[in-house]
Amino acid sequence: MTAPDGSGTRDDRPPWSTLHGAGAVPDALGRDVAGFVRDRIAHAPLGRTLPPSQMNPLLDGVITASGLGPDAAWRRFVDDVVPNTVALDSERYLAFIPVSPSAAGVWMEAAVGAATFSAESWLEAAGVVAAENQVLRWLADLFGMPASAGGCFMSGGSIGNLSALAVAREQMGDRRSVAVADTAHASVFNSLRMLGLTREPGYELIVVPTGDDGRFTGAALDAAVGDRHDVGLIVAAAGSTNAGVVDDLAGLADVAERLGAWLHVDGAYGAAAAMLPEMASVFDGIGRADSVIVDPHKWLFAPEGSCALLYRRPELAAEVHTQHGPYIDILHGDEPLWNPSDYGYQLTRRATGMPLWFALAVHGTDAHAAAIRRGVELTRLAAHRLASVSGVSLVMEPTLGVLLFRRAGWGRDEWGAWASRVLSDGIAFVAPSTWKGEPVGRLVFLHPRTPESVIDELAATLA
Ligand SMILES: Cc1ncc(COP(=O)(O)O)c(C=O)c1O
Repeated sequence: MTAPDGSGTRDDRPPWSTLHGAGAVPDALGRDVAGFVRDRIAHAPLGRTLPPSQMNPLLDGVITASGLGPDAAWRRFVDDVVPNTVALDSERYLAFIPVSPSAAGVWMEAAVGAATFSAESWLEAAGVVAAENQVLRWLADLFGMPASAGGCFMSGGSIGNLSALAVAREQMGDRRSVAVADTAHASVFNSLRMLGLTREPGYELIVVPTGDDGRFTGAALDAAVGDRHDVGLIVAAAGSTNAGVVDDLAGLADVAERLGAWLHVDGAYGAAAAMLPEMASVFDGIGRADSVIVDPHKWLFAPEGSCALLYRRPELAAEVHTQHGPYIDILHGDEPLWNPSDYGYQLTRRATGMPLWFALAVHGTDAHAAAIRRGVELTRLAAHRLASVSGVSLVMEPTLGVLLFRRAGWGRDEWGAWASRVLSDGIAFVAPSTWKGEPVGRLVFLHPRTPESVIDELAATLA
């Protein structure tokens, strides 16, 4: 409560006054949080997962009218939340697509959170938008996109795909068919459905089957399309998620050009590997795309929540995504300024390109390329080692960092039991998959500090 003379002690302030300002929480909390960040950068324990019946009760009583106070609240986070959460950033997280943020990226992420930059417009965030645009320019040059290319950072690949495909739809005109491989990411199919491109009258989805190598090629697209001229959008992958296969981007670009179709390349997972000179030919044609996404939170070592979205002709995206209204029209003044929110479906946005910008500024591009290369090396080592285990065979030789393999006699149940055992033994977090309907093992190597010994430990569990 406030004293009659207007003063107040820390303990008798009105509740609203305790939220902000230097004295809101003790300095010790800041030290604890900074210590947590430092420890996490040094080593992320693999963690575990609990069923809801055990997990939810652990959080009973956390949200109260008067609060627990900083010490008790922080302890609930450290004791109950963190250990029961599997660490994507662990060196032993080899499932789905891992996230292994650089130390510089993590610290910049903390700074971005503290500053809450309002990064949707140049007016509010010229410095931040210019820095993010530097990264987008570097990526566009890496892919060989023209000087006109530009876009924005978004929160992840799903929203990046949705935003790009929304722009593509406007350019399709009367050509209302969409061609996509059977290996495309789930977010591509979801986006097409949400945009009315799968079921609306007049629209048709052509799902092109891939062969044993999982690669969507210009020849397969040609065969699927035949002499039709109604294809207005083609979606390719620069690193399919399940198998890490890069599609025949040059061949698909040729077909797209012939048909006058929009070519979108989903490089959320794999396009970062275009940084490796020895891989450049694999990505041949990526620069001819009309739109491309790549997720820094995947193979560019940014913390979770970042997608770089690039358009060959960003002005087409601005026609679709610019939001208008009395209170925001000021963002579009007389002088044309670059507003990230004009290029994707998001107005208020976190400056999700800043952690990568900072890590590139600190370490340079070579260190990032070397870290990507280590993932490729580990994948090849694992391929070689697992193929030597009796009963184990590779589904295909890996291109990027994903390894798919069979184990004679193992079906869905055996793979599920294997994943549980490998996690409870603290070896790794793995998630089995399927290949053309067949249950298979799947490992993804992305963290450059994953110890080689993990490969032997996993091989032993398969023997
Ligand atoms: C190729 C590809 N596209 C899109 C996505 C979706 O990205 P996000 O999970 O960031 O939404 C993923 C995620 O793994 C992916 O691998």
